Amino acid sequence: MASEYEIKKQICDIGKRIYDQGMVAANDGNISVKLNDNEFLCTPTGVSKGFMTPEYICKVDANGKVIQANPGFKPSSEIKMHMRVYKNRPDVQAVVHAHPIYATSFAIAGIPLTQPIMPEAVIALGCVPIAEYGTPSTEEIPDAVEKYLQHFDAVLLENHGALTFSDSLINAYHKMESVEFYAKLLFLSRQLGGPKELSKSQVERLYEIRRQFGLSGKHPANLCQNAKNGQPSCHGCGGSCGGNCHGGDVSSDVVAEITKKVLESLGK
Ligand code: 13P
Repeated sequence: MASEYEIKKQICDIGKRIYDQGMVAANDGNISVKLNDNEFLCTPTGVSKGFMTPEYICKVDANGKVIQANPGFKPSSEIKMHMRVYKNRPDVQAVVHAHPIYATSFAIAGIPLTQPIMPEAVIALGCVPIAEYGTPSTEEIPDAVEKYLQHFDAVLLENHGALTFSDSLINAYHKMESVEFYAKLLFLSRQLGGPKELSKSQVERLYEIRRQFGLSGKHPANLCQNAKNGQPSCHGCGGSCGGNCHGGDVSSDVVAEITKKVLESLGK
C-alpha cells in the first residue's frame, strides 16, 4: 500500500493531467481518495488542480469534516458529493470531478450519452446518465447523483460537468477520459450526419464480454433482465437471472428508464 504522502503526490499528478488536458478551467474540479472507512484525502477548494503540491491536500472524515489541512487550505466545496459516492459504493476508492468540454456540453444540452457507437465506450461505460441540476456545494448534487450510483461508474451533472469513480485513482481518472472521449466522438459523428450505431445484438455481445472479463464497478451489462423490461428487479443477479428474480428496488425505475432509452436509440 502506498504511503499517504505517495497518494497525495498521485492526486497532484492526476490534478495536473485533468488541467493539462483541458478537462478543467482555472480552479475547477476536485479529486478525492479513500484511505480507510473514516479517512479520505481531497483537493483543497479554490486552487488550480494543475499546480498542486502534496502540502495542498486535505484529510477529512466520512462526514467531510477536516482531520488535517495546512494553513490556507480548506477541503473542496464539493466534498459532500464525494462522500455520498463513498457512502453508497463501498467498492469505490477514488472520485474525480471535472468539466471536460464535450461531456459538459452534453450535460448542458441535457443529452445523456446513450448511443452505442464504439465497443470501448460500451464496455467501459455502457451509457452515462445525467443527474438533475443541483446547486454546487449543497446537498442537491449528492441527492441528484445518489440514485445512479448503484448502476453506473460515471454520471453527467446537468449544466455542470462530470463525475467518475472507481476502485483506484487511476481508474477513476481513466473513466473521466473515457467519458470525454465518448462524448467527443458522439458530438463529432453527429456533425458528420449522425453516428451509425451498434446494433442491439452487437451491444449484447460486448456486454457479454464485459461480464466474462469480470470487470469491476457498476455497469448496465450487470443489470437484471427485469430492469431492462421496466419491471421490479433484483439488481444483484449480474444479468444472469433471465428475468426470473423478484424483489424490487427503489431505483429500478431509474435504471429501466435509462436502459429503455438505450434500447430505443438502438431501434432495431
Ligand atoms: P472546489 O475548488 O471547491 O473543489 O470547486 C471546484 C468545482 O469545480 C466546483 O464544482
